[in-house]
Formats: sequence, structure tokens, C-alpha cells
Amino acid sequence: MIRSPVLVDLDRLLGELDSLACFSDAPSPAVTRIVFTPADRAARSFLLERFWEAGLEVRQDAIGNFFARWEGLEPGLPAVATGSHIDAIPYAGRYDGTVGVLGGLEAIRALRASGFRPRRPVELIVFTAEEPTRFGVGCLGSRALSGALDPNTLARLRDADGRTLDEVRREAGYTAPLESVVKRPGAYAAFVELHIEQGPHLERSGVPIGIVEAIAAPAGLRVWLEGPGGHAGTVPMHERHDPLLSGARIALGVEAAVLREGSEDTVGTVGVFDVHPGAINSIPRRVRLEIDVRDVDENRRDRVLARIRAAIHEAAGERGVHHRIEELYRDGPARSDAALLEAIEATCLELGIPFLRMKSRAYHDTVFMARLCPVAMIFIPCREGLSHCPEEYASPENIAWGVRVLAGTLARLAS
Ligand code: HGY
Ligand code: MN
Ligand code: MN
Repeated sequence: MIRSPVLVDLDRLLGELDSLACFSDAPSPAVTRIVFTPADRAARSFLLERFWEAGLEVRQDAIGNFFARWEGLEPGLPAVATGSHIDAIPYAGRYDGTVGVLGGLEAIRALRASGFRPRRPVELIVFTAEEPTRFGVGCLGSRALSGALDPNTLARLRDADGRTLDEVRREAGYTAPLESVVKRPGAYAAFVELHIEQGPHLERSGVPIGIVEAIAAPAGLRVWLEGPGGHAGTVPMHERHDPLLSGARIALGVEAAVLREGSEDTVGTVGVFDVHPGAINSIPRRVRLEIDVRDVDENRRDRVLARIRAAIHEAAGERGVHHRIEELYRDGPARSDAALLEAIEATCLELGIPFLRMKSRAYHDTVFMARLCPVAMIFIPCREGLSHCPEEYASPENIAWGVRVLAGTLARLAS
């Protein structure tokens, strides 16, 4: 067990979070860091230096996941792992994912400095492409690691410029076969992710630590709607087949399908609504919608998806618009392991830090690590629950509490 107090070097950690935020394609305080862009690759180099400075052995796999390892007294045992992601959606904040990566590093540094020696190895994992921004599917690194997405499908994913994941990863120096990424169940003893809540519950409750019992199951649809288009002035209204209007009906249909469930845990969003050609005097010809539906209850989520599909067929059919639905992903929810939840709770009690048990409506790499080992998550509050925007903010005090609870939990699990 831990012999001397675990001292978090908060100044160093906050400095590293600020440095990492500078690797961005958006002006501060916004952060845009899309997987395998120059900003992401520079951020990866920054992290590698921090891991080497901390005396960790670092391995990178064929999809660009990082594994920074602190060897244990019994190296042959499956490691206890922590980690998160550093990629950021366009115009996001600086704490989503990075608190789990740099906070995980700080937890390991603090444990090493305290003289604690783990029986099990402890590994910090940085997952590639947790965000779906570039390739339409999120959690690519943890999906590949857990076998949730096969290497062929992965390799063929394309970005908006038509470039495949395989091309882009090779350009970034990751050339080994993607088959080499996958790990077997049992490869890890446990995985615990530290993350900002990305919602208002902890702040409203005035509690600094959330112990996450379940993580929502995300599903994503891409909908293509096509019509003949035409001149905005000369095509009579009754002769039009306008895909934008079908899209508008679908967007409202998504909201109606979700609200009909009457559950706060069911959410649906139309985050992409692209119109082509996008000219004031041209009737839209092609519309692309991307729909995100989530719930901690998989059956309820799938009921909503079925209603949305019906709404798509109806909204396109009534206007004579052609449509195509592409299911991008439909994942199951993850449930945290009871023993890990107890380890986090015991650490909070030992530190005298208030906590509450909760759900996560955001998805995380933990969803896929649950296919490999027992998992759990630790949340810290973010101001007004804001996330995926430049206003995202986690206070130094809460970040420090999150790191201390993570460190104590890792020590318990690795002993
Ligand atoms: O969308 C999510 O829940 C995560 O932030 N990628
Ligand atoms: Mn995110
Ligand atoms: Mn995240």
C-alpha cells in the first residue's frame, strides 16, 4: 500500500495541460486537434517526451495508441491501466480527454515519488481518435484494441477528403499491420479512466468526484437525401422535391422520437446538416444529416432508432426525395465493475472527499475497454457542465482531487 502521502504536482500538471492545448488548429481558448493532423502529431511528440521524462517505457501500436508502462514487481501479471484521449473535435475545450491522459501521468508520477511499488504493472494508454470527427466513428483506438472493429473495416474508413485511415496512419509513421493491435480479454486486470463529466450534475450537486456506474450506448446514423434541385425562381412549389425540407422533418422527428420515451437518459442530436449546393437561389439537391442517439438502456435506444428510421422513410417519401441510411455505429452500454467502484469509493473515503455515483451520457474509450477487462470511470466537475466548446473548464482543485482519487485507486488495484 501507499506509505507516504501522494503529492500531486499541480503546477506541473496545469502547465502541461496548457502546453498541450497549444497544439491546436483553432485560436485559444478553443482547441481543435483532429487525429493525425500536424497538431495531433506534435501533441503526440509532446506526450512522448513527458512519458520518457517520467521514466516510463513507451510502446506505440499500429493505430497509434500509446502504452506508457510502469513495470511492476511481478511483470508477468496483467497490468492495471488508466488513460484517455487527446484528440479534440473542432472548436472544443482543453480538458476533454487530456485530464485523463496528463492526470493519469501525474497519478503515476506521484505514486512513484511516494515510494509505492506496484505488484502489477501500471499502464497509461492514450487512445487514437476517440472523437468521430475525421472518420465518422469514434473510439477507433479502443475499438481496434478490443476487437470491436475489425482491421479491414478500420483500414477502409475514409475522411471527408476520401483518404483512408490506413493511408493517414501510415503517413503518421504507423505502418505495422492493424491485426497486431487487438488484445485478448484478460490482457489487463482493470481499466479506470479519469474524465471531466461534460455535464452539470456534479457541479449542481456541489460534489467534486463522480463514480461512474454506467456509460451510455452511442449509435450514429448518416442520412443522404437527394432531389432534382433546380432554379429557386422558376420551379413551382407544387413541383418541388426538396431534400432540405425532408431533412427538417427528420430533425424534428429525431427530437419527437426521443421525447416520446420520457427519459432523461435518452438523448438524440442532429449534429450535421449539410446542404448542397448551398446557394440562396438554388433548390437544395443533396442533404447529409448525421444523427447521434444515446441511452444507458440499449433497448430503449434501439426503440428510438426504429422510430427515427420510420420518420426518415416517411419524410423522404412524402416529398418524392430519394434517401439512404448508413448506420455508422451502434454500441452497447458499458457497466462498471463492482470491485472497481468499491476501490474508487474506498479511496474517496480515505481521502475524505465527497463523491456520488452516476451515469455517463458521453461515451468514452472505457466502453470498449470493458470488452477486455473490468472497468470504471472517475468524473470531475466541469463549469456549468459545458464541454465540446472553448468555455470548457475544470478547476485546479477538482483536477487535483481527480488525480489523487485515481492514484489511490490505481495503488489499490495494482497492489
Ligand atoms: O461524443 C462523446 O460522447 C465523446 O465526447 N466522444
Ligand atoms: Mn469528446
Ligand atoms: Mn472525451
